[in-house]
Amino acid sequence: MAERSAPVGVMDSGVGGLSVLAEIQRLLPNESLLYVADSGHVPYGEKTPDYIRQRLRHIAGFFHQQGAKAMVLACNTATVAAVADLRERYPHWPLVGMEPAVKPAAAATRSGVVGVLATTGTLQSAKFAALLDRFASDVQVITQPCPGLVERIEAGDLASPMLRELLAGYLQPLLAAGCDTVILGCTHYPFLRPLLAGMVPAEVAIIDTGAAVARQLQRLLGARGLLAEGPARATRFWSSADPGNLENVLPLLWHTPDSVQRLPM
Ligand code: DGL
Repeated sequence: MAERSAPVGVMDSGVGGLSVLAEIQRLLPNESLLYVADSGHVPYGEKTPDYIRQRLRHIAGFFHQQGAKAMVLACNTATVAAVADLRERYPHWPLVGMEPAVKPAAAATRSGVVGVLATTGTLQSAKFAALLDRFASDVQVITQPCPGLVERIEAGDLASPMLRELLAGYLQPLLAAGCDTVILGCTHYPFLRPLLAGMVPAEVAIIDTGAAVARQLQRLLGARGLLAEGPARATRFWSSADPGNLENVLPLLWHTPDSVQRLPM
């Protein structure tokens, strides 16, 4: 039986999930958090679902060993590939996955055209197709895979001319089609909000699901009587690549410089 004071495990292929970790910490400041960046295997976006499932089994096993009371897949690509597999393996463990914000975007658009920026893996998945069928039958959805963006963000690049050019190419078809709502369907992309804001017309809304995931975690923990009463312990970080790489980028994307441990093989 898990305890209220047990930590919550949050993972991503790399640093993207920090955008979700920040929302969780804002909403649930009493929770102790563990963060795994699977940086030795990033990007997930171009990997096979089977490969990603194997990685997620390993990371879920690690969180289990650490005594985590819940796990958050702060990664859209990992969710489409692996959340069903993990739910089967751990039927009693609260697991929160994420999906692009198609439902709120379809409700909010006035032009009737919505754009989705995400990884190839997310956009090609059956789960994403089902999401469109369910919530977007009345709107036009323009999907845009964005290879290369994740690698730039992993390197701590949030504003270089090269990144701007890459992003401009990905935004162009969305804006040309008349999108007034752009969904950030990858947890790395919220770090590009400042750059994006200067690249789309002011009336274009940019949305992501980090805050919704934090609320879902709150609901799941609350329903099981597992919300922590605090105080939270310091967040702990692991990486499956050289911990020094993540330590270098953390101060840019996270509020405190933290030390990072190597994720056991
Ligand atoms: N941050 C991830 C997502 O939300 C995946 C990025 C990647 O590794 O390709 O999809």
